[in-house]
Amino acid sequence: MESPVVLGIESSCDETGAGLVSDGRLLGHAVASSMDEHARFGGVVPEIAARAHLDSFMPVIREALGRAGLGMADIGAVAVTTGPGLSGALQVGLAGAKTLAFSLGVPLYGVHHLAGHVAADTLEHGPLPDPCMVLIVSGGHTSLLLVRDLARDPIVHLGDTVDDAAGECFDKVARVFGLPYPGGPAIDRSAREGDPRAVAFPRPLTGARDARYDFSFSGLKTSAARWAEQHRLRGEELPLADGAASLQEAVADVLTRKAVAACREHGVGTLVVVGGVAANSRVRALAEERCRAAGIALRVPPLKLCTDNGAMIAAVGDLLVRAGAEPAPLDVSIDPSAPL
Ligand code: KG4
Ligand code: ZN
Repeated sequence: MESPVVLGIESSCDETGAGLVSDGRLLGHAVASSMDEHARFGGVVPEIAARAHLDSFMPVIREALGRAGLGMADIGAVAVTTGPGLSGALQVGLAGAKTLAFSLGVPLYGVHHLAGHVAADTLEHGPLPDPCMVLIVSGGHTSLLLVRDLARDPIVHLGDTVDDAAGECFDKVARVFGLPYPGGPAIDRSAREGDPRAVAFPRPLTGARDARYDFSFSGLKTSAARWAEQHRLRGEELPLADGAASLQEAVADVLTRKAVAACREHGVGTLVVVGGVAANSRVRALAEERCRAAGIALRVPPLKLCTDNGAMIAAVGDLLVRAGAEPAPLDVSIDPSAPL
């Protein structure tokens, strides 16, 4: 039997995404972002995000269908992010997905946002090896996961951030540095001209007695803020590029060091780095360098699949369909703080 076309819908934060996947293949996707509307507030405003999802919901689906050369009637299943995320934003996506699934008479699947980030890579590089190590680094998450069969086995959570997420650290420090939101890309750009050894920022939770796979970025954020403050108090211009490069180096060092150690300890030969921060040029370069040295295969999805999108949700839906998973009941609800 031919594999159905799965429509994936993502609306957990500030991106409304729709993607179409069938039998592991990405047919088309589209993303609308309300990022610009949040910029002057320095972070995502939940109410603005929810309204923007409402406006973008049908347009992104039509755009994704257009890109895939498909119509509504070709949709064979609907997958939607049920959590974690902002509740108002998730509600809009789920209500829309239910309506579509019901009116088209097709099954509905609820998808964990992080499973979506993990699956994003399959659209570019094919099925994930079993087992593989996944480092999820985004604005909301910093997790190390041991993944087996995504559609059948529970994901094993090895470590998490105990405070801020890596992306959050970039976003908050960027704000202190006077860089625009979102901070990650701005820090990345600014760091190009800087010296990564200029400032010795701390490498939190890398001591011998620290929880091996947990992360902490709030101390690093404070150090960077203090460094900027000291320059201001002295009336000096902030050596922005050096600060950005040094901060980025500290984040990339901690992330890749722990990820490679986890692969080694668990005898895993593949590391997948996903989430918005996987777009960071230094995180990518250092991961490549350290994986090569340790004989670990590194997989990083292309940038457009690293940040929130609907294609990654469709990818999980497609895996669930093919694994014969039970669809969600139509009264399924959102789970804003969903555990893995
Ligand atoms: O995965 P994502 O789009 O959304 C979630 O948080 O789920 O990730 C967004 C995060 C933001 O914190 C943003 O600053 C960060 O990813 N980011 C980057 C880069 N591009 C996006 N951080 C560092 N360097 C980048 N090039
Ligand atoms: Zn995300």
